[in-house]
Amino acid sequence: MLRFAYCLYVILIFTNSCSNSNPPIKNVQEAFAIIPKPHSIQILKGRFNLNKNTQVTGSKTLEVEGEYLCKFLSQSSKHTFNYSNNSNGDIILEIDTSINAQEGYNLNISNDKVVLKGKSKKGIFYGIQTLRQLLQSNNKSTEAKPSLYFPCTLINDQPQFNYRGMHLDVCRHFFSVDFVKKYLDIMALHKLNTFHWHLTEDQGWRIEILKYPKLTEVGAWRNGTIVGHYPGTDNDNKRYGGFYTQQEIKDIVDYAQQLHITIIPEIELPGHSSAAIAAYPFLSCFPQEASEVPNDMMSKGSKAAQSAGQAKIVQESWGVYKDVYCAGNEATFNFIEDVLTEVMELFPSKYIHIGGDECPKDYWKKSASCQAKIKELGIKDEHELQSYFIKRIEAFVNNNDKRIIGWDEILEGGLAPDATVMSWRGNKGGIAAAQENHQVIMSPNSHCYFDHYQSEDKENEPLAIGGFLPLEKVYNFNPIPDELEADKHHYILGGQANLWTEYIDSDEKAEYMLLPRMTALSEALWSSPEDRNYEEFKVRLNGFRDQYEYMGVNYAKHVFE
Ligand code: ACM
Repeated sequence: MLRFAYCLYVILIFTNSCSNSNPPIKNVQEAFAIIPKPHSIQILKGRFNLNKNTQVTGSKTLEVEGEYLCKFLSQSSKHTFNYSNNSNGDIILEIDTSINAQEGYNLNISNDKVVLKGKSKKGIFYGIQTLRQLLQSNNKSTEAKPSLYFPCTLINDQPQFNYRGMHLDVCRHFFSVDFVKKYLDIMALHKLNTFHWHLTEDQGWRIEILKYPKLTEVGAWRNGTIVGHYPGTDNDNKRYGGFYTQQEIKDIVDYAQQLHITIIPEIELPGHSSAAIAAYPFLSCFPQEASEVPNDMMSKGSKAAQSAGQAKIVQESWGVYKDVYCAGNEATFNFIEDVLTEVMELFPSKYIHIGGDECPKDYWKKSASCQAKIKELGIKDEHELQSYFIKRIEAFVNNNDKRIIGWDEILEGGLAPDATVMSWRGNKGGIAAAQENHQVIMSPNSHCYFDHYQSEDKENEPLAIGGFLPLEKVYNFNPIPDELEADKHHYILGGQANLWTEYIDSDEKAEYMLLPRMTALSEALWSSPEDRNYEEFKVRLNGFRDQYEYMGVNYAKHVFE
């Protein structure tokens, strides 16, 4: 009721502000379709009109952010805007260290000035995203480049969580540099700040490692892919793959930095390592043992290769494989440390994700060297061997001044001392880790797996892995589980949604699975629970749709019907 009264109040002020000389404007919910919802927003009378004399100014240190804003303004209007280094403009960017939150900003739009203050460059950047969403046109339908204005408002804003992430699996299917940049652009619009880049898998190794060229010469390519839902009806027998050169990685890292997005690379271990093993079979406990594809779905090319004596292949089907890095062989650790050394050079992120999920212990049980290692270490079983594996890698990463993140399986056999846990099998792992005073990122498959169907009408949906994750459920995601004691809440850094791509083989499909669910996620992570209301969000989302159209991204339109 209170919210309804507030909406009416806002509509009244806003309607009142439309003088006869101005063309009609969008209704208030559409004009203020800001997502994620700001912490506080006051809607004022009037508008700030952009014209050819509008100056965008601020300090030299905000040049990147200023140019970023000018790029949007120029693209949308008939004028060209450039950022200049002074404080006398009409749109002024300014660092204000008195703002509380590190990523916080204040925005004051009046008839003759726009003042955006941020605690940091990040705060300024998020304020710019809000400005971008507030940008209105006088007459969109008849002019290619219409006149633009911002409605007057006062906004104070800051996020609820510091970690606001999106993941992308580029291994099951590969995505181009241009698409990764577009993905980052979509994230930036939503004030998401962490990109978890899943770079190695059974089905493809996607990052150039100079010391081990076969990782990409061999490991980045598979001879075919199963057709249809796992375990498949056939194999398409098409060579498939791709990888990012180190130069491309640097370019993407730079691009992300300008968008204030940290990239966390994931190098999977000890499981999900078939592609690395295909490139360097010594990494397996059993280098001579032939790789298998479930239900005999192996491609003709791989069958021929195996007949000719090559045991290992890059995987062509989905699921989990028994052939994992051998934990009883020092050469495995040397290899991983070499790989991580190059990875840590490329990514400025404090965190390196080392995977740790879904590692069957079958080979370790049969392997003489793994069993000898268990004896030597005086540990109980293969779960403790996995824990030893992760702890050893953690020590190496820590020695390089970085920290590890692992999926919640890293709890099994004992957590590495400094590890951050990414809870995906529901909340349980996250709760257990927080109770052990470890940092946690919540990414439960109940609320954050965007490879699941977004409609129950599966007949009319593109093929997905399964499950059902509607928009409303994403919106209601709360990274802090009810069961977690209040004094442990601070261990929850935030949340993340994942886009696994077994069944996502094109940019358009990735965007379709992503949107509008990513939009709902952004509000779940940024806005406080007391500020959130799904029905009211849907009204804003309707206006926010324009952002998808401006960016030329695909999205699930049926959600709006
Ligand atoms: C996962 O979905 N296997 C982390």
